[in-house]
Amino acid sequence: MAIPREIVEQILQAARIEEVVSEFVTLKKRGANLIGCCPFHNEKTPSFNVNPARNIFKCFGCGKAGDSAKFLMEHEHLTYPEALRYLAKKYNIKIEEREATAEEIAAQTERERMFNINEFADKYFVDTLWNTEEGKTIGLEYFRERGFLNPIIEQFHLGYSPAKWDAFTEYAKQNGYSDELLEKIGLSIKGNKGLYDRYHGRVMFPIQNLTGKVIGFGGRILVNDPEKKSPKYQNSPESEIYDKKQTLYGIFQARSAIAKLDECILVEGYFDVLRMHQVGIENVVASSGTSLTIEQIRLVKRYTSNITMLYDGDAAGIHAAIRGTDMILAEGMNVRVVVLPPEHDPDTFAKDFPLDYVQNYLKTNAKDFIRFKTELLMKDAENDPIKRGQMVRDIVETISVVPDSIFRISYVKECSRLLDMPEQTLINELNKLLRVKFKKSLGPEGDSVPEVNVVSEKQEEPIEEQLPAGYYQERELVKQLLLYGSKIITDEREEEDGTKILEQLTVAQFIIDDLKMNGFLFKDPINQKIFDIFDRAIDENNFPDNQFFVSNEDAGIANLAADLLSTPYRLDGWKNKGIFVKTEEDVLKINALMSIERYKDLILEERCKQVEEELKTATDEADILILLKQKKNLDVLRTQINRELGIVIAK
Ligand code: GTP
Ligand code: MN
Repeated sequence: MAIPREIVEQILQAARIEEVVSEFVTLKKRGANLIGCCPFHNEKTPSFNVNPARNIFKCFGCGKAGDSAKFLMEHEHLTYPEALRYLAKKYNIKIEEREATAEEIAAQTERERMFNINEFADKYFVDTLWNTEEGKTIGLEYFRERGFLNPIIEQFHLGYSPAKWDAFTEYAKQNGYSDELLEKIGLSIKGNKGLYDRYHGRVMFPIQNLTGKVIGFGGRILVNDPEKKSPKYQNSPESEIYDKKQTLYGIFQARSAIAKLDECILVEGYFDVLRMHQVGIENVVASSGTSLTIEQIRLVKRYTSNITMLYDGDAAGIHAAIRGTDMILAEGMNVRVVVLPPEHDPDTFAKDFPLDYVQNYLKTNAKDFIRFKTELLMKDAENDPIKRGQMVRDIVETISVVPDSIFRISYVKECSRLLDMPEQTLINELNKLLRVKFKKSLGPEGDSVPEVNVVSEKQEEPIEEQLPAGYYQERELVKQLLLYGSKIITDEREEEDGTKILEQLTVAQFIIDDLKMNGFLFKDPINQKIFDIFDRAIDENNFPDNQFFVSNEDAGIANLAADLLSTPYRLDGWKNKGIFVKTEEDVLKINALMSIERYKDLILEERCKQVEEELKTATDEADILILLKQKKNLDVLRTQINRELGIVIAK
């Protein structure tokens, strides 16, 4: 059905991009705009920009941009009319709906018809559960017996499909749904005697997408069939609206809790999700028996980067925990694993124990994944040198997928301790792997950037500024100065004669001394101004407070400070990741050190390139000799730095 032009305009005007987007992406205020992690590509640092004034979004990472309708089309895989209807509903704009004519029904898109029949089936199963004798005595009774109460049964639209072979199919046909559609969406199956119900005699779990639309079903058999003539669970086949690898059961009900608690608990089964919700743990979704996919991970990542995998205490559960986890780590997510006591799955565990016990169990048994894997493999490989070698490679492989070098190096340290092996051995192994990966990544351009294709009228695009190399590394250092410059840390220093002395100094001193000693100057004048202020502050031992910077008469300093100070580090972040760092002081130090090294590496890389360029044109033998020497020194420095960072220099 066509939507009149003036209604379309009304809808697009009413739609606020920030409101539409924030249903799916966690946004933070950044000046007049909002930013978040792009839902369309994989990223760690937010480059997805929402501009309320222009009413558009744009990702500076992947280039996707557009208005509210465009966002919904891309994100929810809606057609243009579907996106408009979504917005109309959200903003209470009435689209003239008449009784559809036969012609119009035929013209409905396939996807719309599929959503439509699923909604119809959902209502039917729910209605059957609550309002028919069979539904009540068999279906509802089953849920009751397993201890589920009305609120959960209602919230998740649990239902019942009658035992009669074609009860639903007949009802749907009476209501004008075609055999073809019923079969295609998978609600019915074609047999010798015609269509029959896929789910007859099962309790029903509708599977909803992020916006609550029913995209498929799962149905559980009621009696455990010892001969296994029919499977315990029947699930919808994939269709144009149901892509299993993109789906997580419970995401619609769990998404706000996931965002709020900044954590997603992952379980395997429908009942696990239901039970956890019922006892009050709502940030839970299920992968529904299949192994986890990258798409599912990205779905979670829109809301949080912390995943806790909750697995059955049996061997299969532990195995499942290991499979697929490297993929989550590669997405830059923090993964923890909780293994339940043997004989339990999350459903029975949360049913048999009181809530505070369950919560406490989760808290005290959550193990950082790499530690979990290391300990597990160590048990397997005890006293077996061949297995042990394999195990080390296996663990290093896992570490190598972690995108952030700071975390990689922390994991190396932790594993070196756990395995009782020298760090350097692990680093060498790690670098070998990283080198191979790096070479692979040099192949043809990986992710090609999709064409920007703005739906409505042409929009002016925000201009990307050209920033000098190392700008973000500079900023990182400035941020640390601003946030923690005056904090005291203890550093170990080596004297000329080799004696080691412990020295108390401020973070600012730690950073600035190092950079000055090596003759580094910031390129960005504002960054350099803040650097100079701290340099003086060290001499005078008098550090200005945040207010001094935020309200600085130099507008450049004020803006930058406001920007940087608005997103402090979480100092407990390292502890959350189960990493060896013990004190806040350790955290400050490692952050500062890593930022310095990263910055230096970038600058040295640039100098290397300059020297190489000069070498190309140099003719004088003495010049060439000097340049070669410089080059060699730079290479040595870079190797040193990279050893510290645990990353490979691209040759
Ligand atoms: P209950 O046995 O009723 O407690 O269900 P459960 O969720 O604990 O089941 P289980 O641990 O055996 O399996 C976990 C998940 O795997 C289920 O929720 C289903 O999504 C899926 N699954 C289990 N059995 C089958 C099956 O026979 N067929 C299909 N397609 N999926 C299954
Ligand atoms: Mn179970």
